[in-house]
Amino acid sequence: MSEAKRAVTKAQPGKPMIGRLVVIGLGLIGGSFAKGLRERGLCREVVGVDLDPQSRRLAVELGVVDRCEEQLAAACQGAEVIQLAVPILAMEKLLVELAKLDLGDAVLTDVGSAKGNVVRAAHLAFGEMPARFVPGHPIAGSEQSGVEAANAELFCRHKVILTPLAQTDPQALQLVDRLWRELGAKVEHMQVEHHDQVLAATSHLPHLLAFGLVDSLAKRSENLEIFRYAAGGFRDFTRIAGSDPVMWHDIFLANREAVLHTLDLFRGDLDALRDAVDAGDGHQLLGVFTRARVAREHFSKILARRAYVDAMHSNDLIFLANPGGKLSGRIRVPGDKSISHRSIMLGSLAEGTTEVEGFLEGEDALATLQAFRDMGVVIEGPHHGRVTIHGVGLHGLQAPPGPIYLGNSGTSMRLLAGLLAGQSFDTTLTGDASLSKRPMNRVAKPLREMGAVIETGPEGRPPLTIRGEQRLSGMHYEMPMASAQVKSCLLLAGLYATGQTSVTEPAPTRDHTERMLRGFGYPVAVDGSTASVESGHKLTASHIEVPADISSAAFFLVAASIAEDSELLLEHVGINPTRTGVIDILKLMGGDISLENQRVVGGEPVADIRVRSAKLHGIDIPEHLVPLAIDEFPVLFVAAACAAGRTVLRGAEELRVKESDRIQVMADGLLALGVKVEPTPDGIIIDGGSMGGGEVWSHGDHRIAMAFSVASLRATAPIRIHDCANVATSFPNFLALAAQVGIRVTEEAKS
Ligand code: S3P
Repeated sequence: MSEAKRAVTKAQPGKPMIGRLVVIGLGLIGGSFAKGLRERGLCREVVGVDLDPQSRRLAVELGVVDRCEEQLAAACQGAEVIQLAVPILAMEKLLVELAKLDLGDAVLTDVGSAKGNVVRAAHLAFGEMPARFVPGHPIAGSEQSGVEAANAELFCRHKVILTPLAQTDPQALQLVDRLWRELGAKVEHMQVEHHDQVLAATSHLPHLLAFGLVDSLAKRSENLEIFRYAAGGFRDFTRIAGSDPVMWHDIFLANREAVLHTLDLFRGDLDALRDAVDAGDGHQLLGVFTRARVAREHFSKILARRAYVDAMHSNDLIFLANPGGKLSGRIRVPGDKSISHRSIMLGSLAEGTTEVEGFLEGEDALATLQAFRDMGVVIEGPHHGRVTIHGVGLHGLQAPPGPIYLGNSGTSMRLLAGLLAGQSFDTTLTGDASLSKRPMNRVAKPLREMGAVIETGPEGRPPLTIRGEQRLSGMHYEMPMASAQVKSCLLLAGLYATGQTSVTEPAPTRDHTERMLRGFGYPVAVDGSTASVESGHKLTASHIEVPADISSAAFFLVAASIAEDSELLLEHVGINPTRTGVIDILKLMGGDISLENQRVVGGEPVADIRVRSAKLHGIDIPEHLVPLAIDEFPVLFVAAACAAGRTVLRGAEELRVKESDRIQVMADGLLALGVKVEPTPDGIIIDGGSMGGGEVWSHGDHRIAMAFSVASLRATAPIRIHDCANVATSFPNFLALAAQVGIRVTEEAKS
């Protein structure tokens, strides 16, 4: 019986993608699917089927469909796509009915919240899973229901998961995929079982808990009291207990296996929490709560596409640096990155509670912090640079639940490789696109010589898989390159190796590991260029004050030097002699820099640094200063571009394997600004003079982005700097501090 009527809303004339669409089940989801495609003019005809005459009438009146049918057979005649949008438990019966019909070449798809049961039912009804059946699940809904709530925009920016099987016809899959995309949905493909497990954990379990908790409290005799005093927490947690009971009863019956699995896991965790409360085990509770809080922040960032996990893939963040400006004032730049990493590592391996102040809340150091949380260490904070680490001792780390993601941070990966080589469990270390290109054989090779078992990706790149339960033997290693990361990696492995581990460096490199180990009471012998440790000692918790990072201060040292009439005071900067190459180089170029208020804080020398503008001139940079200024060259190249005459750098091939190839990327950028530069295999030649404006690319390298921001002080036109998101890895408040002292750089407004 045809119920065709004139629709109130006419379908828009568009170019139809398909002929007849049949939607079976005109509720919120089915109705919205029909209405969305009809309004966009993507089907020649939309036919609705529903058992309820009222829904059929409304669907036509509201322009959800062109016409309705009561009988399936009549509706499905000549259908090109059939959407099954009935409640999930009604799916089985519907599929049996459909199997009796001649559906021609029609593509079948559905919107059920669980997929395993739909696939099983289709298999049973048709004798096999029809190749033209594409199971699907839109993750959209609202507290409203029924065809009257149908909304053509309901799926816009919502996820739709399709779960094709091996035998699914690729053309049918492509068609269903396109229809959802036309509705504005973000379509993903997943395996049936995986879909059901993921949804059981992220949607079904929370609903079960909310329904269960409200019912459990409501049943008690004192329920009135409880609900009267139930405030925000209760309301937030139980909001979803207001969902449709019938629909949810269906879902739990349909996704039984996966729900039981996730519920059992959760029951175990709940019992552990109960035991911790019973035993008064505050440490355990704090561990669960701090990890949960951080995980939630992390996930919300991922959902908003802001987390460091996708910093390299996120939309291009552009800095716009306007020309001119002079610097004045006093600032404290964020904490030292190298010391921040080590404070988490050694604090975790120590016995007792370590307090850290001045911790760098940048993404690299946070990646290290998260890695240790993943290995069971309870870490509070960071909060305004304060971190409290509840050390677990040298042998107290636990296997992480999955691969450890280290973002952009080479220091985390190389130092952790040494430390993890001595553990009793396997670990896999991964990173972002930039870190995944960086060489790891420099640590994997000597660690293997000590007995470690390490697998790398092709050509010694990440990921690294480090096997546990290996017996490491101490050894002597002559480092082929001046690298504090390699030295530190081997000294950390040495804490777990039999006998003595010693490392000789070809030139002095930063010695924060040696200093901090001693600060934790662990003996380290240093004899000339050789540092050595022996296993068998322990680390005792300590208090760490992280000084401001000279590598971050460097941008301002150059900025105030090149901008006329500037004077700036940089407070509390670490001036460890293995890090002060930038000051020495700038002074050789004629820089006006003085150290004030020198003191030693927590084993590290610190000073306030005063810098005034100066007429810089080009120099041949002494090679022995290269490792002592290894991270500061991008901004030193900017100083050279503003200096009179030629600056030549040699012996710095290491710059080619940093977060980017810093020689090439800086040369390209400076050339774009009209500076005369010539990159060489191990350095660069820069003829200083004037600098124009232009477009430059930082290639996701934080220090390149900040260096070109500084260049604007002497540029004659604006500089647009692409790919700046990773500035947050080492200097999260760079733009604010730069603006405060007079550098005219801002984030370019998104169009
Ligand atoms: C670091 C050492 C340096 C430096 C890096 C941090 C460290 O790397 O470039 O930013 O904290 O040990 P190399 O040791 O590889 O030169």
